[in-house]
Amino acid sequence: MVSISLSLSLLLVSWSMATASTDQVSTSFIRTSCSRTLYPDLCYSSLSPYASQVGHDLVLLARFAMNVTVGSLKPVSSYIASALRRTPSSSSDQEVAALKDCSELISDATDQVKKSEKEVTGLEGLVGPQVTWRIGNAQTWLSAAITDETTCTDGFGDGSGGAGEDVEMEVRQKVKKAKQLSSISLALVNGLVNHR
Ligand SMILES: *[C@@H]1O[C@H](CO)[C@@H](O)[C@H](O)[C@H]1NC(C)=O
Repeated sequence: MVSISLSLSLLLVSWSMATASTDQVSTSFIRTSCSRTLYPDLCYSSLSPYASQVGHDLVLLARFAMNVTVGSLKPVSSYIASALRRTPSSSSDQEVAALKDCSELISDATDQVKKSEKEVTGLEGLVGPQVTWRIGNAQTWLSAAITDETTCTDGFGDGSGGAGEDVEMEVRQKVKKAKQLSSISLALVNGLVNHR
């Protein structure tokens, strides 16, 4: 009985050690890849949860980054939508217009990031000019998404006390994160060029 439970616990120990080392390998792969982006910490904290699925696959890492980016854009859209529903009557037309424009830009950015993710999907199976073409499209769309995100908050006031200032501040914060994640995605997609 003692020997059974001993070997069982040995088995469990070696099993958990094996799991830990696999995870370590793939998290260090993610750390290294993230170090080539402008926001290594955000990159790592956003992508390390997918370590076991990503393994050592740069294409998959980039795809997960784009999905995380889409996930960060969604709350912006829903936040703006609900802010617009409860706009105080004191909000200026200009503030409302800026939020509406922003909402549209964020929706465009979301589509562009989704398109980029699709473009990179299946890249492993392609060769030559097709690879270059697909990566080029993904780069173009991600850059366009970053431009849209920038334009969104550029339309806001100067922070000098309009009625919608809290809302704008909150949108700024959310868009900032989405923009950093878009930049991370672009850096990881750029990394595919040399890799292929
Ligand atoms: C990203 O999201 C799309 C759409 O939901 C999905 O089809 C795709 O498999 C996801 N990619 C990864 C790497 O999870």
